Amino acid sequence: MKPKIVILASGNGTNAENIIKYFQATKTAEVVQVLSNKKDAKVLARAEALNVPTRSFTKDQLNSKEILGRMLEEIKPDLIVLAGFLLKIPEYLVADYPDKIINIHPALLPDYGGKGMYGMHVHKAVVENKESFSGITIHYVNEHYDEGGIIFQAKTRLDPSDSPEDVAAKIHKLEYEHFPKVLENLILAH
Ligand code: GAR
Repeated sequence: MKPKIVILASGNGTNAENIIKYFQATKTAEVVQVLSNKKDAKVLARAEALNVPTRSFTKDQLNSKEILGRMLEEIKPDLIVLAGFLLKIPEYLVADYPDKIINIHPALLPDYGGKGMYGMHVHKAVVENKESFSGITIHYVNEHYDEGGIIFQAKTRLDPSDSPEDVAAKIHKLEYEHFPKVLENLILAH
């Protein structure tokens, strides 16, 4: 049986779509479910268009081992991938899936991480601080925001004239290029 990936996402879902398409083409793993804490998140429509089953859940359901824990137990995922997922992962999930929950962060951690640092908030802070580089960090998830062991980072050069939107575009490009391959390498290594 193919290794199974479950994606958790809260928003637009371009990374989720890119990962689904990558594995539909390479067949080294399969995205079997996309879950969102927002029932109208665009990611759900993107997944359904690619024939990947979706479900949404509330914050309380996420924090319940009996509900989300059981839902995942039925799937038995090899990897749980956070692709723009904005809620904190509860401790029971970190304990039940050691080194199997992977997040992507749109900056070079440990810089620009932590609570409230997500999406455009990150890129605005990077521009305000006149950074000449930003990048992506793919890391294991532990019980603290953005603090799990780093698996992979990639950098991109910023121009002084870059707006937060320009930075976001450069970061998304890096994410699309690297995230599926890093996940594939993790799967192949196990
Ligand atoms: C991505 O850039 C991802 O790195 C970021 O949200 C964006 C989601 O874009 N994640 C975080 O900020 C997590 N702290 P997408 O919905 O188009 O994939």
